[in-house]
Order: sequence, then C-alpha cells, then structure tokens
Amino acid sequence: MIAVIDYGSQYTMLIARKVKELGVKSRVFPAGSKIDCSNQNIQGIILSGSPSSVSEKGSLMPDKSVFESGAAVLGICYGMQVIVSSSGGVVGRGKKREYGKGVLKVNGKSLLLDGLPGESRVWMSHYDRVLEVPEGFSVTASTDDLETAVIENTDKNIFGVQFHPEVTHTEYGTRLLSNFVFNICRAEKDWNLGDWIDDTVEDIKRRVGDGKVIMALSGGVDSSVVCVLLSRALENNRFFPFFVDHGLMRQKDIERIKRVFIEGLSIPVTILDEKKRFFRKLKGVSDPEKKRKIIGNEFIKAFLRASGKIKGATHLAQGTIFPDIIESAKSGSSAAKIKSHHNVGGLPDKLKLKLLEPLKELYKDEVREIGIKIGLPQELIKQHPFPGPGLGVRIMGPVDSRKAEILNKADAVLDQELKENGLYYDMWQAFCVFLPVRTVGVMGDARTYENVVALRCVNSVDAMTASWSDIPHKVLERISTRIVNEVEGINRVVFDVTNKPPGTIEWE
Ligand code: XMP
Repeated sequence: MIAVIDYGSQYTMLIARKVKELGVKSRVFPAGSKIDCSNQNIQGIILSGSPSSVSEKGSLMPDKSVFESGAAVLGICYGMQVIVSSSGGVVGRGKKREYGKGVLKVNGKSLLLDGLPGESRVWMSHYDRVLEVPEGFSVTASTDDLETAVIENTDKNIFGVQFHPEVTHTEYGTRLLSNFVFNICRAEKDWNLGDWIDDTVEDIKRRVGDGKVIMALSGGVDSSVVCVLLSRALENNRFFPFFVDHGLMRQKDIERIKRVFIEGLSIPVTILDEKKRFFRKLKGVSDPEKKRKIIGNEFIKAFLRASGKIKGATHLAQGTIFPDIIESAKSGSSAAKIKSHHNVGGLPDKLKLKLLEPLKELYKDEVREIGIKIGLPQELIKQHPFPGPGLGVRIMGPVDSRKAEILNKADAVLDQELKENGLYYDMWQAFCVFLPVRTVGVMGDARTYENVVALRCVNSVDAMTASWSDIPHKVLERISTRIVNEVEGINRVVFDVTNKPPGTIEWE
C-alpha cells in the first residue's frame, strides 16, 4: 500500500485516487501519523500539499517514523518543503506566488522523471520555494521561474516535486506517480474495487460490533450504495434504513425504492409517509429560503421520530463522499451564501451516534462504479442529481400537493422523451419547473387559462458551472405537445436558456 499523509491540501484524496487508478492500494493518514511499514504493509509514503507554510509556527510536520520507516517518500509541494526543512535545507517565500501552468525542464537522469520528455507542462500552486537544497539531494528539474522544481536523494529514496503531479493539467503526472509507485516503491498491482467492497464490508462489521445502525435513504446514488454495503455487513435486525416521503419526491423515486431495495434486495426500508405534514407546514410559504428551511427541519424531525423507536441504535450511516467534505469546508468560508443546501447535515449532532461514512474518501465516479459492482441498476446509478428539498424548489411560490402532482407528471414525460431519444445520459440534469403564472391558450376551440411549465436541461461536470443543453427542436416540440396534452393544469411550456452563472441550476 501507498500511504498518503494529509496536510490539508484539497488534492489529498486525488493523490490516493490516482494511486488506486494505477492498481495499488492507497490510504490517507492524518498529518503526524506514525508509520509502521511492516505491520501496515506500506511500500511508499506520499506527503501531500497544504494551504500552510512550513515556516509558520506550529506548521504540520511528519512523525519521524516517516523518514525512518524504510519506505520511499515523495513530497508534493508543501510535502517537498517538509522534506527540505527536515533534512537541513532552507525554504522561504519567493518573490511572487506561482499559480497555474509552468514548463518543467528535466536536467538529467532521474528515476522519478523516467520517460518524461525534456520539456512538459506542469501545474503549480505555491508561494514558498526551496532556497537551499539539503545535502545528499540533487535537483533534477526546474522551470523558468523555479530553479528547484524536483529534488531526489536516491540513497535514501526520498523525492520531492514542487508541482502537482496528481492533477490532470500536469501532462506527465500519471507517469511520474507510476515511476514512484512501481519503479521506486516496487509496489504491486493488487487493488481493485472488489477488494474495496470486501474490505469495507468487513470494516463496517468491525466498527458496528453488536450495535445497530440507522440511516436516511434518499434513493440517490450515494445513500443507495451505502445502504447496500450496510445490508451486506449486517443482519436485518441490526440495520434500519428509512425513506422519508415528504410528498415532494417524484413517483418514480418511491417506486424505485420499493422495486430495487425492498423487493429486489430484501432490504427492509421503512417508507415514512409524511406528505400531509410537509404540505401543512409549507402551506402559503413562498420565500425560497423559508421553504428550504421548513423542508430540512421537518425532514430531520420525521427521521428522528421514526428512528427514535429503534432501541439501542449506536451508529448513523451517511452517504458523504469526498467532494461533500470539500464543499462543507468551503461553506464555512466567507463565500456568499446562494442557497442553504438541504442534506441530512444536522443529524449527527442531534443524534449523538457514531458516524459511519464508508464513501468519504471516494469521488462520485468511483461510487458509481462500486454501485454497479454491488448490483444496483444502471437507471439508479446514472440518474441525474435530485435536490434534497425535491420538487419543493421546482414549484415556484407556495407548494401544494396539486402542483407537486402536475410537476410529477410533466417530469415523467420529459424523462421518458429524453431517454427514448438517447439524450438523458449525456445531460447533467433535466427537469420541469412549475411557474405560478397563468396564460391564455386554446384547446379544442375552447379558451384555456392555465399554468406554465419550464424545461430546465443543463450540461455540467460538477454543478459549479453549467450550460443549457441544446435539445433538437423536434424533441422539444414533442415534449411540449405531450405535456400540454397529458398534464391537466398546464397549457404552455417554455425552455430555459440561462447558463450558470448567472442563473443557478435549480430555479430556487
Ligand atoms: P444550484 O441550483 O445551486 O444547484 O445551481 C447545484 C446542484 O445542487 C443541487 N441542489 C441540491 N442538492 N440539496 C441537495 O442535495 C439541496 O438542497 C440542493 N439544492 C440544489 C442541484 O440540483 C444541482 O445539481
């Protein structure tokens, strides 16, 4: 295994992921962890980057076992500066911060840079730099702005790079990591998703012991995968998943829970019918933030009421994935709050249970691959994201059950047409929005005066930015005709052509 020591870089998990993609097991350890190579079967150690500076007081440093363990060490950015300052070299502030592309020039023979061309593109993000190289190290590459971009001590098997080989903008990053993992650490390819699943199931069993686990299953990819892993690890009398039907889910979501989990996998999911309560609480509320708050709070209350009946619950399972952790770290910052996202975020504090988050080191596409491997259907794994407050943020103005039903029907038409025309899986999200405006129409020679539905279809890679999807006019026409003909209460369909920014993906 390759140990990745985390000094707080936003790329730490990406390093572990890149190593796993090379077929080698990798685990992230907190800064300061003691490393015991023979017991932990560690062949190499990678020290991550960090937002801090090694010259700051109290900066994070590795336990001395890292350099004494006998394993090869690769420091990335801050990790390289840690190596330099612990080996007698000097690190200091450069004249300017270097951020973005650089051209790496290889100076001579190098184990780490084997196979790299004389010049290649690398990605940098640093202020500090190596001012004096420690004894025993040679400099094997530089950039125009940075004399010491790569250092190597082949006697001690210690290496450092100032740039980030783990990001795709570094042209030969994977080659460099592969040189480290296979040629220097001599690690073997033996990691695969099957092993991850077995190890995780065993880990859940060990952690839970004789305890009981509760979870809120939303039916999205992450919570679905967690639910299946938990059900593999624990008997039905020790695992209690709940699905809160707040009336703002789509019919297909509830049907899928029944079909896939309850009937298909025999997982005893309790479906809580909370529709009436939610609609009562939401009656007459039109402010988007108030609606979000009500749905979030009522969701937690509903889950607590039901799960509170499980005597002796010890753990709460959640589908947290790695990008969620980055997002919540960011949301603590001074960035402007656009929307209060609703997830089950408030639950852990209220419940005082131990948390089980088996996916927290994974990225979305890894979770999807695991989902397929554990037998979840493609339609679930490849479904578009659906927000926690559900149709509540897709009905503009006050929410009621009639509008939810209208939206549900319109959404089913859109979903079906996009799938039949081979467009659904190429889009990030596609959904209908209920507009509380009435317009005049004519149907069967009679005047109509009914509501409008907007179609929102976007392409995106991470939901941070998005562009509206260009749908063939013929398909748009069919969707519009079907919605107006089949959904009572709607006599007009419009198409949203706003990118994000300036729009957001959801309308509220
Ligand atoms: P916006 O509308 O902010 O949405 O551009 C970005 C992505 O987040 C989803 N979204 C949510 N997801 N809880 C969620 O789990 C929420 O409260 C929530 N609000 C928006 C949205 O569907 C899009 O994918």
